[in-house]
Amino acid sequence: MKININEQQLPKGGALVAGVLKGGKLLDTAKQLDKASKGAISKAIKASRFTGGNGQWLDILAPAGVGADWVLLGGLGEAKGIKQTGLENFGGTALQRLANCGLKTMAIACDPIPGAKIDPAMAAAGMAYGARLASYRFDKYRTKLKASDKPSVTAVSVLAQSPAAARRHLKALDAIADGVFMTRDLVSEPANVLYPDSMAQQCKTLSKLGVKVEVLNEAQMAKLGMGALLGVGQGSPRESRMVVMRWQGAGAKTKPVAFVGKGVTFDTGGISLKPGPGMEMMKWDMGGAGTVIGLMKALAGRKAKVNAIGVVGLVENMPDGLAQRPGDIVTSMSGQTIEILNTDAEGRLVLADALWYTQERFKPQFMVDLATLTGAMIIALGHENAGLFSNNDKLAQQLFDAGAEVSEGVWRMPLGDAYDKKINCAIADMKNIGGRDAGSITAAQFLQRYVNKVPWAHLDIAGVAWGDHGKPTVPKGGTGWGVRLLDRLVANHYEGGK
Ligand code: BES
Ligand code: MN
Ligand code: ZN
Repeated sequence: MKININEQQLPKGGALVAGVLKGGKLLDTAKQLDKASKGAISKAIKASRFTGGNGQWLDILAPAGVGADWVLLGGLGEAKGIKQTGLENFGGTALQRLANCGLKTMAIACDPIPGAKIDPAMAAAGMAYGARLASYRFDKYRTKLKASDKPSVTAVSVLAQSPAAARRHLKALDAIADGVFMTRDLVSEPANVLYPDSMAQQCKTLSKLGVKVEVLNEAQMAKLGMGALLGVGQGSPRESRMVVMRWQGAGAKTKPVAFVGKGVTFDTGGISLKPGPGMEMMKWDMGGAGTVIGLMKALAGRKAKVNAIGVVGLVENMPDGLAQRPGDIVTSMSGQTIEILNTDAEGRLVLADALWYTQERFKPQFMVDLATLTGAMIIALGHENAGLFSNNDKLAQQLFDAGAEVSEGVWRMPLGDAYDKKINCAIADMKNIGGRDAGSITAAQFLQRYVNKVPWAHLDIAGVAWGDHGKPTVPKGGTGWGVRLLDRLVANHYEGGK
């Protein structure tokens, strides 16, 4: 859904959202409505528990004397505490509350907020961005949806003080939202539709934004010696792929930044088969790759001044007569050998070759990989933060800060020799599991064995790639987690060439 930004003018109909500060202090639009309705707004506030606190809402239907058919008051809390993400949430929640209200149009007033430390044009763009992010739906397979099951609101506008400036800000934010939506779409698609080759085709659609896309097939990967990745896909009739996406937004001499994603389009566990209940969730085991692809779309879409590489390893992990067995020993592109003790610990095998390939070929400034790598990560951090593992304190801090800014939190986990020892192996260079204890950490140690001196961070997103409960700007389902975080990381530190 496109969100427009218009001049501030009270609408003649539809739903209208107006902000109120803590203590019931009406902002301009609410004040005007109160006057026009001869005090109906203040009366409604008095009759309710609404005080303008952050996260409070009050519906006022058909107040006499005003054009709008439905007024929704939203609490903004204290002016000095208002943050950009708070305004995004305001727009997002407003849209979610009104989407099915029965009216066709909706306007969100973005009034000047005395005492707030936020640029008014950014504030309006933020509300629009939040509403857009909240408007995401994945209903392409619901062929029998009745009109009453669909949102009634089809046109949304944010009413801004300086619409032209707000529209300029929104342009970049819309590009990021496009990336987030692509990630959500990819994560939501079932595995009979989205498999390595069809996912590679999706990557190719980025070429119209100026991204160079290369697809490696199994023969090419075999020639490069990617035995770890290929072993995982061996049991599937669907051929594995590796896709390299390149966005050249800075000078040719600027070293690229690199993002690497786990793209297991379905993870049955392989011969170490997973239990049946809940296995359908493993359609989103390509979430790391999905985020890398959405991020590349966002960076290219807003023409970020950075050279960025996205590499995704795409495989399907199936049990089969030809599938990899527990006990098999494979040789990775790095030359290191791996004894496969559990075919369900497959993500690290895919990333081992993808990380090695990326650092050898592109010599990046840093590498960040994303993966729905371990169930243990969900046990440790739940669904609130992704696990962050890094060999570099500066990069780790930059990721932590960017995450806090966009409400995509990361929490740093330890790495160390004592953990690394757990994947030593008697008959190969390493084994692919380290035992039950510290499962997310031993998985990260495994990855680190495929990283040379380059600054590197690993984000285990098993707990955040999918949400069973919606949030203000993230409807339930595929979250698109990480696109905003990594876009912000780039914007904060890696644009403009050094
Ligand atoms: N894709 C899974 C991890 C996962 C589980 C992600 C649940 C999201 C939700 C991964 O490939 C896996 O199976 N990991 C195993 C590792 C174990 C065999 C060492 C796990 O976490 O149980
Ligand atoms: Mn697995
Ligand atoms: Zn997996």
